[in-house]
Amino acid sequence: MSKNMKKNSEKKRILVVDDQPTNIKVLGNCLMGDYVIQVATNGEDALDIVNSENVPDIILLDIMMPGMNGYEVCRRLKQNKKTRNIPIIFVTAMNEDCDEEKGLKLGAVDYIAKPTNPAIIKTRVKTHLELKEHRDKLEALVEKRTDELKETLAILQAKKEAELSQAAKIHSGRLAALGEMATAMAHEINQPLNAINLVVQGWQVLQHRELLTREKMFEDIDLVQRSVERISKLIDHVRTLGHTDGEIVDIDLHEVLDNALSLCLSQFINDEIELKINTLDNIPRVKGIATEIEQVILNILNNARQAVEDYRKNRDQENFQPKVEIFVKFDKQTVNLAIEDNGGGVPPNITEFIFDPFYTTKKKGRGTGLGLSISSQIMTKFNGEITLENHPGNGAAFIVSLPVKHG
Ligand SMILES: Nc1ncnc2c1ncn2[C@@H]1O[C@H](COP(=O)(O)OP(=O)(O)OP(=O)(O)O)[C@@H](O)[C@H]1O
Ligand SMILES: [Mg+2]
Repeated sequence: MSKNMKKNSEKKRILVVDDQPTNIKVLGNCLMGDYVIQVATNGEDALDIVNSENVPDIILLDIMMPGMNGYEVCRRLKQNKKTRNIPIIFVTAMNEDCDEEKGLKLGAVDYIAKPTNPAIIKTRVKTHLELKEHRDKLEALVEKRTDELKETLAILQAKKEAELSQAAKIHSGRLAALGEMATAMAHEINQPLNAINLVVQGWQVLQHRELLTREKMFEDIDLVQRSVERISKLIDHVRTLGHTDGEIVDIDLHEVLDNALSLCLSQFINDEIELKINTLDNIPRVKGIATEIEQVILNILNNARQAVEDYRKNRDQENFQPKVEIFVKFDKQTVNLAIEDNGGGVPPNITEFIFDPFYTTKKKGRGTGLGLSISSQIMTKFNGEITLENHPGNGAAFIVSLPVKHG
C-alpha cells in the first residue's frame, strides 16, 4: 500500500444505486481508489444498506429503476431522522423523463447527467462530502454549546426557585438580576445563532443553484467562527454563576493572583504592556472559591489591558508606555487587591452603568459587558466588593476587597 493511500476503514463510503450493472461499473471505477463503494441494483436493497451498520456518507442515486424509483428512495430516506442528512446526488440519463425540481424539492443536493464524466463525478462527490463535514461539525458545535447554555440556565432557574422558596427579602434584588440575566442571555445568544443560521441557509440556496464556491464557504466560515466564539464567550462568563458545587474555603490571594497572571501574562508581553506587581509578605487568608476570584482578577486585568491598548491606539501617543500595576495591601479587617492602569479611565458619565449586565462600550463582538457585573456578583457572594477609583483621562483602578479571615 503506498503512503498516501488510505486504509479502507478511513475512507468515506459511497452507495451507488442503479439497475444497470454497466452504469455501476463506470461510477465504481472512477471512485474506487478514494472511497469504499457500496452497490445496490434496486430501491429496496438501497434502503436495506442505508439502514444497516455500514451507513454510507453519500448516495449516487439513479431515478428510473423498476420497482421503487429513485424519487421514492429519496423520499423515504428524508423521512427517516437517522438517514435524513445523508447527501443524495441523482444520476440521470438525458433521455429520461427527469424532473430536476422535484428531486431538489425532495432534498437531493445535486444532479449529474449520464453519460457521466469521471472528473465531474469526482469533484461533485468531494465537494458534497466536504460540505456535509462542515455542516456536521457546525451542528455538533452549536448543539454542544446550546446544551451547555440550557444546563446553565436550568441551574440558574433551579437556584432562583430554591432561593425564592426561602422568601428571603434580602435576596430579591440578586434574584431579579439572575432572572433578567437569563432572559437577556437568551436574547444575546440569539443574534450569533441567527447569523449562523443565515449562512447555512445561504449555502443551501447557492448549492441548489450550483453556485456555491469554496471561496464563498471560506469567506463565510469566518463569520460562523466569530459567532460561535461569541456564544462561547457569553457562556463562559455565566458558567461560574450557576455552579453550586464550589466550596468556600480559606485561600491565599497570592496563589490566586499567580494563577490568574499565568493565564494572561503572555498577552501583556505580546502587546508590550508593562506589568508591575507590588505585594507584601504575610497577606492574611480570605474566604472564597479560588477559581471564581481568579475569574474576577482576570476580568479586571483584561479590561485594563484593553483600556491601555485603546488609549495607545486612539491617542497615537508617541512616548506613551502602557502600564498596568497591581498592589496588594491589607489592614486588620480587609485585604485589597488593586489593579491600576494608565489608560483613559472610565468616562464620568458612564461610571454608574459599568457594573450593569451587558453594559459595554466595546466594539460589536469584542465585549459582552458581563465581565464586571459577574465579577461583582462573585464578590458579593464572599462578602467582598469591587470599587472603582477613577482618574478620567489618566487611568482607572479597580479594587477588589475581601474581609480578612479571622481565627
Ligand atoms: N480599566 C478600564 N478603563 C476604562 N473603562 C473600563 C475599564 N474597565 C471597564 N471599563 C468600562 O466598563 C465597561 C464594562 O466592562 P465589562 O468588563 O463589564 O464588559 P466588557 O469589558 O465591555 O466586556 P467583556 O465581557 O468582554 O469583559 C467596558 O465596556 C468599559 O467601557
Ligand atoms: Mg471586561
